[in-house]
Amino acid sequence: MRISLTNYALPKSGAVVATVLKGGKLLPAAARLDKASKKALSRAIKGSRFSGDKGDWLEIIAPAGIDADRVLLAGVGGAADVSAVSLQNLGGNVVHKLATSGLKSATVVCDAIPGVKLEVTEMAAHIAYGANLGSYRFDKYRTTRKAKEKPSLSTVSIAVEGAGKARRAYAPLRAIADGVAFTRDLVSEPANVVFPESFAAECRKLANLGVKVEVLGEARMRRLGMGALLGVGQGSRRESQLVVMRWNGGRRSDKPVAFVGKGVTFDTGGISLKPGAGMEQMKWDMGGAGTVAGLMKAVAGRKAKANVIGIVGLVENMPDGNAQRPGDVVTSMSGQTIEVINTDAEGRLVLADALWYTQDRFKPQFMVDLATLTGAMIIALGHEHAGLFSNNDELAQRLSEAGQTVGEAVWRMPLGDAYDKLINCDVADMKNVGGRGAGSITAAQFLQRFVNDLPWAHLDIAGVAWADKGSPTVPRGGVGWGVRLLDRLVAEHYES
Ligand code: BES
Ligand code: ZN
Ligand code: ZN
Repeated sequence: MRISLTNYALPKSGAVVATVLKGGKLLPAAARLDKASKKALSRAIKGSRFSGDKGDWLEIIAPAGIDADRVLLAGVGGAADVSAVSLQNLGGNVVHKLATSGLKSATVVCDAIPGVKLEVTEMAAHIAYGANLGSYRFDKYRTTRKAKEKPSLSTVSIAVEGAGKARRAYAPLRAIADGVAFTRDLVSEPANVVFPESFAAECRKLANLGVKVEVLGEARMRRLGMGALLGVGQGSRRESQLVVMRWNGGRRSDKPVAFVGKGVTFDTGGISLKPGAGMEQMKWDMGGAGTVAGLMKAVAGRKAKANVIGIVGLVENMPDGNAQRPGDVVTSMSGQTIEVINTDAEGRLVLADALWYTQDRFKPQFMVDLATLTGAMIIALGHEHAGLFSNNDELAQRLSEAGQTVGEAVWRMPLGDAYDKLINCDVADMKNVGGRGAGSITAAQFLQRFVNDLPWAHLDIAGVAWADKGSPTVPRGGVGWGVRLLDRLVAEHYES
């Protein structure tokens, strides 16, 4: 989709989108269209249930007196209803409503709204951002669709007073959307395409944006003593990888912030094999790593003034003659030993070494890890919140607020000694599962044993990494969850 910000004017063709306030009050563009069409719009409103509430839409095809082929009225509600996220949704909805309409172009005419704090140029930028996020498609493997099912819309313009300023406001948002799309691609690709080495190759491409990328193979990891991560990958024909991405946009003296992702490119469960039904979903068990890679693309793309480190542990969890067995004991890089009770609780084993390596090598200000870690997280929070676990109230608060602002909500879950005890073990320093209760919490406690005295947060994204149901800015499939949230966290608190 081509998305552009243009000077304020009504379009000569395609669809025109104009905004209406609660109570049916037409904003200037809508009022002009109404006048030009001899009140066709007012009549259409009267003959419908459209009242200008947020999320109301009314489509009027080919009204006389108007150049455009179609008018879409978008209800925005009252000033209090208008926010960055509501405008992004508006932009996403424009794309969805017109994608297969037969029209090639749409122009959203962006009017200022009295009482809204955002400048009109910022409003336009957020509409463009939403259209960008909402127009994402992962359809490269669909080759036999009928012409009528294919999208017709190829251009969305946002017309606004001060287009130059709006373009400058959109530039960083566009970089974030590029990061989100990168994550969505990685998450949606099947596991025969995205596996540890090909994922690492995708990360290497970020060098084009100035990201320093290092890839550690199995030999390097063995020398570092990463027995926990390597044990998970040992049943796979694919070589495990650890990718280190660094964006140095801050001052030399700024301590880096670090993000660590679980990248299980396919999780069969290993010898503790998962049931067959739904196993295909485990292609997205690299969602945490996907988010970290997309975040690096976002911060580099908008040249964030911060030092940001992204580390992803990439493995494939397979059953095999060489696979690790339940009962095996592995030694992690930290020196702590782990009895692997269940080979399907593999994400924590990968993160144990990735987290330890990150703090050991980079001594960051904080670490945030992301992982599709537990099915229990979906039982607890469904698909509406990611689970947040943290040893630091300030970091937890900042993550919660960033999530609120961008529309990626997190909900804090408890940690504590009583939970930690559940993974004590007679055979080794700990076991990798804690029993039936509190599955997401014992998984987080396990991770915490690999975090020394620094602020750390763990986001269990099992319920939010993939969407079966689309929304205006998130098509079905890989969500790209967390790129916006973490970018916001960095922008708000850690840029110089
Ligand atoms: N990747 C899964 C968790 C998962 C399940 C993510 C469903 C997304 C959707 C993880 O590796 C796993 O298998 N966890 C086990 C842990 C158990 C063996 C303690 C689980 O959740 O059942
Ligand atoms: Zn598993
Ligand atoms: Zn897993």
